[in-house]
Amino acid sequence: MKVVETCAEMAALCREVDRPLGLVPTMGALHDGHLSLVQQARADNSTLAASIFVNPTQFGPHEDFARYPRSLERDLESLEAEGTDLVFVPPPHEVYPEGFDTWIEPGAVAEGMEGAARPGHFRGVATVVAKLFTITRPDRAYFGQKDGQQVAVIRKMNEDLNLGAEVVTMPTIREPDGLALSSRNAYLSPEEREAAPAVYRALCAAEDVWRRGERDAGRIQRAAHNILGRETLIGAVDYVGIVDADTMRPLATTHEGRPVMIAAAVQLGTVRLIDNVVLG
Ligand code: PAF
Repeated sequence: MKVVETCAEMAALCREVDRPLGLVPTMGALHDGHLSLVQQARADNSTLAASIFVNPTQFGPHEDFARYPRSLERDLESLEAEGTDLVFVPPPHEVYPEGFDTWIEPGAVAEGMEGAARPGHFRGVATVVAKLFTITRPDRAYFGQKDGQQVAVIRKMNEDLNLGAEVVTMPTIREPDGLALSSRNAYLSPEEREAAPAVYRALCAAEDVWRRGERDAGRIQRAAHNILGRETLIGAVDYVGIVDADTMRPLATTHEGRPVMIAAAVQLGTVRLIDNVVLG
């Protein structure tokens, strides 16, 4: 496994390797969710590349950039064990050199939910992913459904800008009690960890109401809010969104034949948890 720090060397290596090339972009602190992407990418491609870069531009000024978990040595060991060929680990000045001033601004797909709660977040995500795609020119790139709106933003950018990668979405990996795996789960206190599966329970309650025939978004949302409201440690519910799963457009009623995403974001202590389920 080759560990590469510069954009120029990564681009040169990616031009030479056997194709297809699969890319797994990450911010490190790898867990089994990330490893499921790596394993799929390994199975699908002749060359497997991953990136580890805690991207400063997708964090707001009061967010957790400084304390975001970092475990480079362990991450590299995990990637090597999974048969990764190339790992791109650029320092921040490599990605954002002095004077960097060009951004990808996603449109309506990035407006609601995470985009509304975290202004500028998707601009940072889209810009860094566009750079990673440009440097590595992947045939396939792998992302987790856990960040459902992120996947929609990246798919739209990939299509609109003809970046030419196949964007592969992998299912959310969960703890046995339903909590979606996330690097940020490491911040939860034992009591918060016990309360955290309420988010998935709330999504399942909403899904259940929908499966029983309810199509009114307000009533589906209420089923989720009822569960979240019972968990006293959950401080604020940022949103329970009922959106078109491709466009992220909010829906008043869920239409037959179109996939629907129910997404939620809550504050649990100092941790913001997000999760979603896709119906239909
Ligand atoms: O999902 C993540 O880890 C990040 O948002 C990504 C896609 C690697 C961009 O920094």
